[in-house]
Amino acid sequence: MTTLQEARMTRRRRRLFARWWPRAAASMEDRGLGSHRARLLADVEGRILEVGCGDGANFPYYPNAVTALIAVEPEAQLRDLALERAEALGMQAAVLDGQAEQLPVESDSFDAVVSTLVLCSVEDQDRALAEMHRVLKPGGRLWCLEHVASGNRLIHLGERAFDAVFWSHVFGGCHTGRETGAAIGRAGFDTEGLAPRRFPDLPFPLSVSPHLIGTARKAL
Ligand SMILES: C[S@@+](CC[C@H](N)C(=O)[O-])C[C@H]1O[C@@H](n2cnc3c(N)ncnc32)[C@H](O)[C@@H]1O
Repeated sequence: MTTLQEARMTRRRRRLFARWWPRAAASMEDRGLGSHRARLLADVEGRILEVGCGDGANFPYYPNAVTALIAVEPEAQLRDLALERAEALGMQAAVLDGQAEQLPVESDSFDAVVSTLVLCSVEDQDRALAEMHRVLKPGGRLWCLEHVASGNRLIHLGERAFDAVFWSHVFGGCHTGRETGAAIGRAGFDTEGLAPRRFPDLPFPLSVSPHLIGTARKAL
């Protein structure tokens, strides 16, 4: 398959995913996802860029200290839902069409970039993180809630195989086996503020349970 065909396929999968994601996400919010969002975003402040905002599930959790919210979302259907949500909450938000790999905003212009459940799905994680780093002001932070690869080598191998034959195709380009913490470090962020968490915290291993939650800082 050529690169162009692959890109088309990824977009088709993402469009299909956009149709059912809002309902699936709504059912997860009350089962712990909403509390993780609330805890993560309680202290975010200033001018915010949210990447891959989906239907705006994070919007209710932004505190008053947020002075401007600009969101980027490639799927038109999700952009409309995000705008509806912002309106219902009485929030001023701009929701732009765009991709994490080429953010349509100026360099060094945001106090915070928010990415929740997005770095598993972007087409090129290194490029997306380089862009997030570019648009942050020096000292600004990337606020993350991302599911990541298992630390167990065998499970990780299984995740990569599962992604290739099934998961990515069904879940809009999502990958369960991405080593996102290492990629964030490679992009030049200080990752000390990122902590591993299990969610959902079940007694048996689930490929999407290991998460990284917290902030990564761009150097001053
Ligand atoms: C699992 S949903 C998460 C949505 C939202 N961030 C949340 O926490 O509910 C993944 C989102 O990433 C978006 N996405 C996928 N690839 C992207 C890319 N290359 N650039 C920006 N967003 C992307 C999808 O359209 C979708 O909205």
